[in-house]
Amino acid sequence: MTSSSTLAVPETRPVPRHVAIIMDGNGRWATRRHLPRTAGHAKGVQAVRRVVEACGRRGVEYLTLFAFSSENWRRPVDEVSLLMRLFVQALEREVDKLQEQGVRLHVVGDLSAFEPRLQELIAQAQARTAANDRLHLCVAANYGGRWDILQATRAMLAARPELAAHPERIDEAALAPHLSMAWAPEPDLFIRTGGEQRISNFLIWQLAYTELYFTDRYWPDFGDEEIAAAFEWYRSRERRFGRTSAQLAAGTAAGA
Ligand code: IPE
Ligand code: IPE
Ligand code: MG
Repeated sequence: MTSSSTLAVPETRPVPRHVAIIMDGNGRWATRRHLPRTAGHAKGVQAVRRVVEACGRRGVEYLTLFAFSSENWRRPVDEVSLLMRLFVQALEREVDKLQEQGVRLHVVGDLSAFEPRLQELIAQAQARTAANDRLHLCVAANYGGRWDILQATRAMLAARPELAAHPERIDEAALAPHLSMAWAPEPDLFIRTGGEQRISNFLIWQLAYTELYFTDRYWPDFGDEEIAAAFEWYRSRERRFGRTSAQLAAGTAAGA
């Protein structure tokens, strides 16, 4: 798919086509209530359901959720196993609903690190929903932006070994098809809940021209109203992609 924001100016619409979210703040949500952090993760699953529905209703085509980063293995073993259990449970319980809603599920990341049972459930859920196209729901699990660029580089060289002898021929168009989300347009809107203003090794290549929205709201408290507020903010942005405001107003910019 040729939808690179650096190779061509993308079309902008009032509703973001692709929304990417760092679902952060589960632990703090729970700690504030004197609950174990894991209670926050369980509550976070409900927010996923609300946000998938809200995005589907509002005409979003692609929704990418950061569920587990390549650095999250550094957490206490108990918390990591609970997160894995919740992932398994969600796949077991939610796929029927996704199917009914016309949602196609994708999982991106280095899945080889997961238990065989989880890998199998992921493969089944992806296969089962493969014919749907109302909303593409992409879950990033054991995902890291640097991992993605490195695996894409390896895949590109495996597919075109002659590039190793001609590095000057390596360009965006050669690399981009091997990135793990090459099938989707780049995100228009990035949302991070929980108050931190950082990317935490999420889609570092794909976020080159994405509008970045940060909110203090913890993920378990996020839902339709908060999506509406983020979308309203998004509508107020002027997406220039390197051009000037005057060019945009005149509609004369190349690729406008
Ligand atoms: C996000 O919430 C969920 C995952 C990283 C899996 P956190 O668990 O990071 O919550 P905080 O940031 O500690 O509050
Ligand atoms: C990012 O959140 C990863 C996910 C939401 C899955 P973290 O809470 O792990 O990020 P840092 O470590 O605070 O940057
Ligand atoms: Mg966090």
